[in-house]
Amino acid sequence: MMTSDSQVRAIFDRIAPVYDQLNDWLSLGQHRVWKQMTLKWCEAKAGDVCLDLCCGSGDMALLLGRQVGASGRVYGVDFAPQLLAIAQERCDRQYPKPDICWVEADALNLPFTDNFFDAATMSYGLRNVMDIPGCLQELHRVLKPGASAAILDFHRPSQPYGRAFQQWYLDNIVVPVAQQLGLREEYAYIAPSLERFPNGLRQVTLARLAGFAIATHYPIASGMMGVLVVTKA
Ligand SMILES: C[S@@+](CC[C@H](N)C(=O)[O-])C[C@H]1O[C@@H](n2cnc3c(N)ncnc32)[C@H](O)[C@@H]1O
Repeated sequence: MMTSDSQVRAIFDRIAPVYDQLNDWLSLGQHRVWKQMTLKWCEAKAGDVCLDLCCGSGDMALLLGRQVGASGRVYGVDFAPQLLAIAQERCDRQYPKPDICWVEADALNLPFTDNFFDAATMSYGLRNVMDIPGCLQELHRVLKPGASAAILDFHRPSQPYGRAFQQWYLDNIVVPVAQQLGLREEYAYIAPSLERFPNGLRQVTLARLAGFAIATHYPIASGMMGVLVVTKA
């Protein structure tokens, strides 16, 4: 079981070399569709200054980079240096190269002034932070008034058969595949982290408590994933 920020960071640094490949295999490529939906929901537009929180190897930040174009700028923030290095390499290979600044920092203590960003995304990060209410407060602090953030993560389906399928998939596909790569422990944490993760309704309540004027949770992929969309007044 994960108990500290440094353990979480160490897990993601160990996963880094195979992270992108595993995401494609384990979601059958579907994570790309869910990330496109997240991009749409954050309402980033050309020229915006955007944040991708817990950016990992940079999937969402690169999508944001394309969306904001040459007149915009993206900050990809993560505390795992190995994943940030992969994100930087992927960015350097793009043409035209998007304006993305990769920042090694803690999502709970962001190195940005208040009201800095026009839009933000976070994919598969909120479940992993040690202090979810604190992270939402920090996100609220750095967004401009009127700006939105879209937060993609796992979700528990409400139907029993959906929950049973998700658990079967985690136990019989995700963990064994990760085990083949010597990463059993790193992927076995998903199921317990999902048990602890607030459901969509609770996420909405936490977002409201963090100060967001509007908060809506959209279950996707038959409720196995969800996107929390929040807007600052
Ligand atoms: C499952 S990965 C998601 C990466 C990427 N957003 C994606 O969708 O592929 C979770 C990421 O959250 C980062 N993370 C977890 N807690 C963090 C924190 N407190 N501050 C910064 N990054 C954090 C990890 O280092 C890891 O890169």
